[in-house]
Amino acid sequence: MIKMDVINLKNRTVGSQYVATELLKQMKRKPDTVLGLATGNTMIEVYEHLSELININQVDVAQIRTFNLDEYIGLSADHHQSYHVYMNERLFDHNKGWNKDQIHLPAGDASDVEQECLNYEQLLNEVGPVDIQILGIGENGHIGFNEPDSSFESVTRVVDLTPSTINANSHYFDNVEDVPKQAISMGLASIMRAKKIILFAFGSNKKEAVQQMLNGDITESLPASILQRHPNVEVVLDDEIYRFSN
Ligand code: GLP
Repeated sequence: MIKMDVINLKNRTVGSQYVATELLKQMKRKPDTVLGLATGNTMIEVYEHLSELININQVDVAQIRTFNLDEYIGLSADHHQSYHVYMNERLFDHNKGWNKDQIHLPAGDASDVEQECLNYEQLLNEVGPVDIQILGIGENGHIGFNEPDSSFESVTRVVDLTPSTINANSHYFDNVEDVPKQAISMGLASIMRAKKIILFAFGSNKKEAVQQMLNGDITESLPASILQRHPNVEVVLDDEIYRFSN
């Protein structure tokens, strides 16, 4: 087992600035960097900082390729709760120069979602490997939308969301009934192909999952535990989770 690098960056703001800076450095180093991007509340401030840093450093993003982890099934790219809109509003609309042909998210409204999954995985293989993949973590230890008992061999596919995830994500929707029950998600094997992974977590509701991920068994019942097998993972935590998991 490889020991993961874990750092305590005190709070959400410092952690977000750090993750954004790591992404910026990578983009400056390699103008055609392939980024693996995540959504959720965890990444909101990361993208705020990143879009500001891109602008003040005048970084040319024209050749950057991005792959998002997941998208809800049934939501079109202009649906206000889709991850497409999230990414545009939080990142891509803030900087001139993003080449929309090089920005990839699964199409949640594809007429043939199974085919969409195959196409997405194939493109990821052709364009990848991802240089840096950023990850949040679900309260049940999911990464992307790889819910507990997802296979470690899984690739991009249709997934059923658990009641815990539907509930956790319901505050983005008017009613819990409006939360889609399925998503397209990159698989655990797809995520593990990234050269470097940065997982970021803060807040007391994540501390059990992070503790299990770092110190528990490597088991499909806690999908994030697969990261113990990755040679280049950095885990960025706030003070509360860091203390709890140490
Ligand atoms: C969501 C997303 C994940 C995200 C995680 C945590 O459902 N599919 O990519 O990392 O769950 O979400 P949040 O950052 O809102 O806590």
